[in-house]
Amino acid sequence: MAERFYITTPIYYVNAEPHIGHAYTTIATDVMNRFHKLMGCKTFFLTGTDEHGDKIVQAAQDTGTDPKSYADRISGIFRDLWPKLNISNDHFIRTTDPEHMRVVEYILQKVYDAGDIYFSTYKGLYCVGCERFYTEHELVDGKCPDHETVPVEREEANYFFRMSKYQEWLIGYIEQHPDFIRPERYRNEVLSFLREPLEDLCISRPKERLTWGITLPFDDRYVTYVWFDALINYVSALGYPDGPLLEEFWPAAEHCIAKDILKPHGIYWPTMLRAAGLSLPHHLNVHGYWKTGEGKMSKSHGTVVRPLDLIPTYGLDAFRYFLLREMVFGLDANFSEEALVQRLNADLANDLGNLYSRALAMTARYFDGKVPPFGSEPDELDIALLRKKDEAIRQLVAEVPKLGFHKALMAIWECLNAANKYIDQVAPWNLAKDPARKAHLQTVIRILLELNKVIAVLISPFMPETAEKMLERLGTPKKALDLRLAEDSRWGALEEGAAVSKGEALFPRIGAKEPKEQKESKHMEQKQKDQKDQKDQKDQKEAGKTPVGKEKAEATEPVPAMPVSIEPVAVEPIIAEPISIDMFRQVDLRVGMVKHAEKVPKSKKLLRLIVDIGEERQVVAGIAQSHAPEDMIGKQVILVANLQPAKLMGVESHGMVLAVRDGDTLRLLTPEKPVAPGTRVS
Ligand code: MSP
Repeated sequence: MAERFYITTPIYYVNAEPHIGHAYTTIATDVMNRFHKLMGCKTFFLTGTDEHGDKIVQAAQDTGTDPKSYADRISGIFRDLWPKLNISNDHFIRTTDPEHMRVVEYILQKVYDAGDIYFSTYKGLYCVGCERFYTEHELVDGKCPDHETVPVEREEANYFFRMSKYQEWLIGYIEQHPDFIRPERYRNEVLSFLREPLEDLCISRPKERLTWGITLPFDDRYVTYVWFDALINYVSALGYPDGPLLEEFWPAAEHCIAKDILKPHGIYWPTMLRAAGLSLPHHLNVHGYWKTGEGKMSKSHGTVVRPLDLIPTYGLDAFRYFLLREMVFGLDANFSEEALVQRLNADLANDLGNLYSRALAMTARYFDGKVPPFGSEPDELDIALLRKKDEAIRQLVAEVPKLGFHKALMAIWECLNAANKYIDQVAPWNLAKDPARKAHLQTVIRILLELNKVIAVLISPFMPETAEKMLERLGTPKKALDLRLAEDSRWGALEEGAAVSKGEALFPRIGAKEPKEQKESKHMEQKQKDQKDQKDQKDQKEAGKTPVGKEKAEATEPVPAMPVSIEPVAVEPIIAEPISIDMFRQVDLRVGMVKHAEKVPKSKKLLRLIVDIGEERQVVAGIAQSHAPEDMIGKQVILVANLQPAKLMGVESHGMVLAVRDGDTLRLLTPEKPVAPGTRVS
C-alpha cells in the first residue's frame, strides 16, 4: 500500500486579498504535495479560509456588507486564485462550512466534559487586531508588537482551556521529537516561550461584543475564540471524529505556516490535540516572511505584491520558481521584480531554456526530429554528466522533504549547467561533420534528450506546467500530474524513433522592468545629474577650464582607500606606499547579494555565507559578533572575488567580505542603492 502524506496551509483570513506571502506558503505546500505524489505517496492537500472573529466583522463593516456576504466574496477570491497558480489542493475548507462548525462544537464539548474547559473572570490588555489578550512583557513600549497600537483594558467572564496543564508534557514532546517544529530556530523559539509559565487560553467571546462565531455548545451566550475554531479545520476537513480520511491521513499530517502564527500552532494546537485525544502532526514547517524593500508588505505603503499582477508579465512557472529558489525556507527574503527578472533570464531562459532548445534543435538537424538510439558506449564525459544527474535526483529526494527547496533546485541547476558545458565540450556540430563519428553523435543527442526528460520530471513539483510542456515535446504522454519518480526518471526510457518537437522557447527573455517608483526616482536623479553637469560645464567655462571628459575623469580618479580586511578582525595599518591604479584593479571587487547565512559551528566570530555574485560563492566572514545570520539575508556586500580560497574553522571560503571597524562593531560596505549582483566595483 502506498504511503500517505497529508499537508495543510494556514487557512487565510478573509479580511484581505491574497498577496505573495499567501502565495508562497500555498506554492511551497503544493511543491511538497506534488513531490510526495512523485514519490508514489497517496496525498491529501488542504487549504481554505478562516472567516470568524472581530477582524472579519470589522472588515465587512468597512465595506458596508454583512460578515457572511463579505466572507463569501473574499473566500471566493482565494478559492479562484489557487487554480491559477496551479495549486493541487484536494479540498478547500471554510470555517463557515456547517460540517466544520459541527466538529468544533463536538471537540469543545468533549474537552469541556473531560474537565479541561472552565469558566472564570479575566482582566487584561486586549489587542483588537490580534484578537487576543497580551501580557505586559509581550508588549513593546506598551504597544502590540504586530499592530503597534496600545491595547485596551478589558475584563470579561469567559471560558478557559486548561493549557497550562499540558506545559510539561509539551516541553517533553518537543524535546523528544527534535524535528516536530522546524527549522530549529522556531523550535527554540517555542521552547523558550515554554520556559515561562503557560497561561490558560481564553477560548470564548461574549455575544455582547461578538456574535460572528461558533456558539459554545455548553453556553449559548458565548461564541468560540477564532483560533480554537480555526485550528480545528485541520481535522474537521478529514471528517473528524470518524471519517475514513481521518484514519487514513491524520497519522501522516504536516502543517506549513509562516513565523507569524508559530505560537498558536506550536502551543495551542498541540495542547488542544492532546486534550482531544489526538496524536500530533509529524512536522510544523515554519517559513520566514517575504518583505519588499526594507520592510513588511503593507497596504498603506502600497508595497503589497499580488501574484496576479505578476503572472501575466512573467508567467506562472517563473513566479513559482523565483519564490522557491530565492527564499531559504525558515528565513526572511526580499521580493523585487528586478530579482525575478534576473532569475528568469539567467536560470530559466538561459540555463534551462537553452539546454532544452539546443537538444531539440540538434535532434531536428541531425536526426530528422526523431529520438536516436544510443550509438556507442558512454565515455568519461558522458559518465560525469550522468553522475550530476544522479546527484540532482539524490538531492531532490533528500532536500524537499525537509523543505530545502532552494538546495534541490541548485542541484538540478548544477546538472543543467554541466549539460550545457558538456554540449560545448563535445561540440556535436563537429561530430556531425564526420560520418565515422555518427555513432558518437547519436549517443550524445540521446543523452541530452534523456537528460531533458529527467530534468522535466525533477522540476515537475516546482514548475508543473513547464514539465508538462517539456515532456509533451519529448514525445512522452501528457501526464505531469501523475508522474512517478521511480518510473519516469528511468534512464533510456524514451521511445526510440519517437518524434520530438522544439516548439516555442520555454522562457522568453524579459527586458528589465522597472517598478514605477524606482523609474520615477531614477528619472529625477538623471534630471538632477544633467542639471549639475550643465552647471559644472558652465562653471568650468567661466573659469577658463575644459570640462573633464568621462575617460579622463576615470583615469585621474584617486586610488580608493585600501580595503580593510575583516579576517583577521583587527584593523590593518594604513598603507604608506602608493600603488598604481593597475595594481588596484587586480583586486576583483564585486557586489554580492547574501542568499544564506549561518553561524560556523563552534566559532563565535565566523558566519558562513552564500553570496550571489552572478554565481554563488561560499564565503566565511568574521562578522558574527556584529551581524545575526538572519539579518544578513538579502544584504548587498562587497566581495573580494579573486582571493585564493582559504579554510576557516574547516569551512572553505571563496572570497572576502569588506567591512570597516567602528568601535566594537563592524560595518559592512554596501552600494548606496541595490545593484545587480556580480556588478564589478571600480
Ligand atoms: N487565519 C490565520 C491562520 C489560521 S490557521 C489555522 C491567519 N491568517 S492570515 O491570512 O493572516 O495568514 C497568515 C499566513 O499567510 C502566514 O502564516 C503565511 O503563511 C502567509 N503570509 C502572510 N504574509 C506573509 C509574508 N509577508 N510572507 C510570507 N508569508 C506570509 O494567520
